Amino acid sequence: MYLREIGVHTPVSLLTFEAEKSKDDKHADMVIDSETPALQVAPAPFKTLEDLARDASTCRLCSLADTRNQVVFGVGNPQADLMFIGEAPGQEEDLKGEPFIGRAGQLLDRMLHALKLDREKVYIMNTIKCRPPNNRDPRPDEVQACSLWFDQQLDMVQPKMICLLGRVAAQTILQTDAPLGSLRGRWHDYQGIPVWVTYHPAYLLRSPRQKEKSWQDMRQLQRRFQALISSE
Ligand code: URA
Repeated sequence: MYLREIGVHTPVSLLTFEAEKSKDDKHADMVIDSETPALQVAPAPFKTLEDLARDASTCRLCSLADTRNQVVFGVGNPQADLMFIGEAPGQEEDLKGEPFIGRAGQLLDRMLHALKLDREKVYIMNTIKCRPPNNRDPRPDEVQACSLWFDQQLDMVQPKMICLLGRVAAQTILQTDAPLGSLRGRWHDYQGIPVWVTYHPAYLLRSPRQKEKSWQDMRQLQRRFQALISSE
């Protein structure tokens, strides 16, 4: 069992999870201990991703709530084995409430398609759920506040593998300042889940010559993912 403190100034103090859960009973033992009457949370034992998305949709835990149009929760298969995590919603995502739907998202769809995957088979989310003004990088306090949703979402989906898209997602999730170049091409670990790092599709749109390297990354991800799935 582990406890994760959400932060001294945030209204929700502690979340408690059983660490080892099977895919089937993974929602069963989550307990949310909220001290904040203003924060609406669904009753713990039967909480679904949909409930969590509804709770998150009115979040005001950081100042991005003042400038966002919509909370961009996540999209895809709630039981996905493979999860993609990007940086933060952009303008189009903020307007529509869905991650990766702009030009970068369309490229991500094509990358998934090349791997015989699509949005219904994987799960896609971002390190934070609200668009930072002018698409600046998420600030540590915003990431910290948003971990309330991020941690529960990850815990509910329980992917077997994670692919981090771009430097900001990689540095944020892996808690490192290392450049993207040194994070690509080797496996990392996040809470026991194997993590792969590749270019952000928005970067590939700006630097199309890197698409070949991105494709190599995706093939390696696919190989290990297939091996993992077929060994079960
Ligand atoms: N870039 C991201 O990192 N995430 C999105 O959802 C859209 C663009």
